[in-house]
Amino acid sequence: ISINMAGKISKDELEELREAFGKIDLDGNGSICDYELHELFKEANLPLPGYKVREIIQKLDRNKDNKISFDEFLSIFQELKSSDIAKSFRKAINRKEGILAIGGTSTQSSEGTQHSFSEEERYAFVNWLNTALENDPDCKHALPMDPNSDSLFKAMGDGIVLCKMINLSVPDTIDERTINKKKLTPFTIQENLNLALNSASAIGCHVVNIGALDLREGKPHLVLGLLWQIIKIGLFADIELSRNEALAALLRDGETLEDLMKLSPEELLLRWANFHLENAGWQKINNFSSDIKDSRAYFHLLNQISPKGTEEDQPRIDISMAGFSEKDDLKRAENMLQQADRLGCRQFVTPADVVAGNPKLNLAFVANLFNKYPSLTKPEGEDIDWGLLEGETREERTFRNWMNSLGVNPHVNHLYGDLADALVILQLYEKIKVPVDWTNKVNKPPYPKIGTNMKKLENCNYAVELGKTTAKFSLVGIGGQDLNDGNATLTLALVWQLMRRYTLNVLEDLGDGQKANDDIIVKWVNTTLSEAGKTTKISSFKVCKALLIYLGCLFLIHLFIFVRCIQHLSYNYVL
Ligand SMILES: *[C@@H]1O[C@H](CO)[C@@H](O)[C@H](O)[C@H]1NC(C)=O
Ligand SMILES: *[C@@H]1O[C@H](CO)[C@@H](O)[C@H](O)[C@H]1NC(C)=O
Ligand SMILES: *[C@@H]1O[C@H](CO)[C@@H](O)[C@H](O)[C@H]1NC(C)=O
Ligand SMILES: *[C@@H]1O[C@H](CO)[C@@H](O)[C@H](O)[C@H]1NC(C)=O
Repeated sequence: ISINMAGKISKDELEELREAFGKIDLDGNGSICDYELHELFKEANLPLPGYKVREIIQKLDRNKDNKISFDEFLSIFQELKSSDIAKSFRKAINRKEGILAIGGTSTQSSEGTQHSFSEEERYAFVNWLNTALENDPDCKHALPMDPNSDSLFKAMGDGIVLCKMINLSVPDTIDERTINKKKLTPFTIQENLNLALNSASAIGCHVVNIGALDLREGKPHLVLGLLWQIIKIGLFADIELSRNEALAALLRDGETLEDLMKLSPEELLLRWANFHLENAGWQKINNFSSDIKDSRAYFHLLNQISPKGTEEDQPRIDISMAGFSEKDDLKRAENMLQQADRLGCRQFVTPADVVAGNPKLNLAFVANLFNKYPSLTKPEGEDIDWGLLEGETREERTFRNWMNSLGVNPHVNHLYGDLADALVILQLYEKIKVPVDWTNKVNKPPYPKIGTNMKKLENCNYAVELGKTTAKFSLVGIGGQDLNDGNATLTLALVWQLMRRYTLNVLEDLGDGQKANDDIIVKWVNTTLSEAGKTTKISSFKVCKALLIYLGCLFLIHLFIFVRCIQHLSYNYVL
């Protein structure tokens, strides 16, 4: 390496460059030749004809030996550092809005302001992580963490624990082999963090304000915010009728399964708790906050759900109600938690969190109780139409996660039901730069008691109208009524166009308006989508990323960005 470079490329960068170079240089002979570049493109599902590959090499090759040496690689990098391409690339990766949570920094971190965070949450999440990942050999370097210190924030810094948590909440989100675990360098750590952020986004976490740097530095409020989203997704995964038909036991007189399916996981949990409280002859609760502060409802709930020894693999556990009449709130809470401990469910809350009525942590406590001991029996023989119970398709889940990752409000739990008033769709229009007249054209909740559906239908009509006129979508035969009814085919037709437009917009922005419609890439997207499920592997775009960052050819930038979009469109296939 020549001396004049030493001043400009830092030691860290040099190390990262070696790492990147090594990933492309398959045979490890110290230079990148056309064969290796060819492989790279093939792996990324973009097979290029040999002459195209040679063209790229020629453009980058300085001494005309038809390969790229590490020195050439370095000088290209050096040029890129000051070029326009680098700027537009940096712009791409620092983008705050949208799907590119890669390598960016958050608004918060650039402002450098101090954010307070909840020590209760830190304590609760650390204990949860310690238990959940206790036996994972890859987490031995970080666990167990001390819940009373800031070790959590340090432990998040290499991305491994975070990847593991994501995979735990939604199994098979992350392929084991894609996590860098050994001999971590700044470059491989960055890869882990990007993997974590993109995967978090793919399972529906809202991550637009978090960058890899924030995780690496362990910004407490951002780490806790992300962790809570990941933990919640895992806790709520089975609180859904299609995953747990026994939930139908919570049906009330005159209700259909459909009514129950419309409830959010939070509402179902409340319903579940009240079902057991009613059986215990105790009064109903309206929230997991003020109403559980005295622990008495919890005592009854534990007593109802504890195993009665009727099932073979669950020995009987009798809950002691001795602490129920304890005078002191904190002591009573501690007694209650000791009983929860006997069920293996002393998680998320301390006595102080119960007495304070911390809504987030108490929700998590109850969700965990439900997951371990639902104690519901699926109703038999009654006139329940089980045919209605279809699980969510992969496509539906992808759409739903995409919406949630953009931070729509309310959170979308059920694709059709939650779009029935079109408010989420209207927010998505804004994401694709279609202006929405919120003041004059949109009815907002709370809706009036009488004529609620009329108000929702008006919103739906407006959503369809915007699609036809401003967005210029193809919406032949789709009316507001179809969205309001939750007609799957027709709703998906609109949602698909929204997501596609969004993806193209992101691209156009990143390419400063050019090249977004680059034929070859669209074609590649076509192929990738239609062949999804067969060949694409995450390792391919990890390599791609390495090449992209350091070779920085504009064409490859688009390739890279598209890989990200594709990951988003069909993360199930790509990951
Ligand atoms: C992710 O989850 C799946 C299924 O639970 C498991 O087989 C796989 O090893 C996990 N991967 C990681 C990285 O933990
Ligand atoms: C919880 O519900 C009770 C009524 O059961 C109400 O008085 C209280 O304000 C609610 N607390 C919160 C935090 O919403
Ligand atoms: C949804 O709309 C399509 C087209 O109008 C129709 O064929 C289909 O029966 C509708 N589905 C439901 C469940 O109503
Ligand atoms: C993408 O696929 C669609 C449908 O198969 C086709 O009509 C379109 O021409 C393709 N676009 C490109 C650029 O190949």
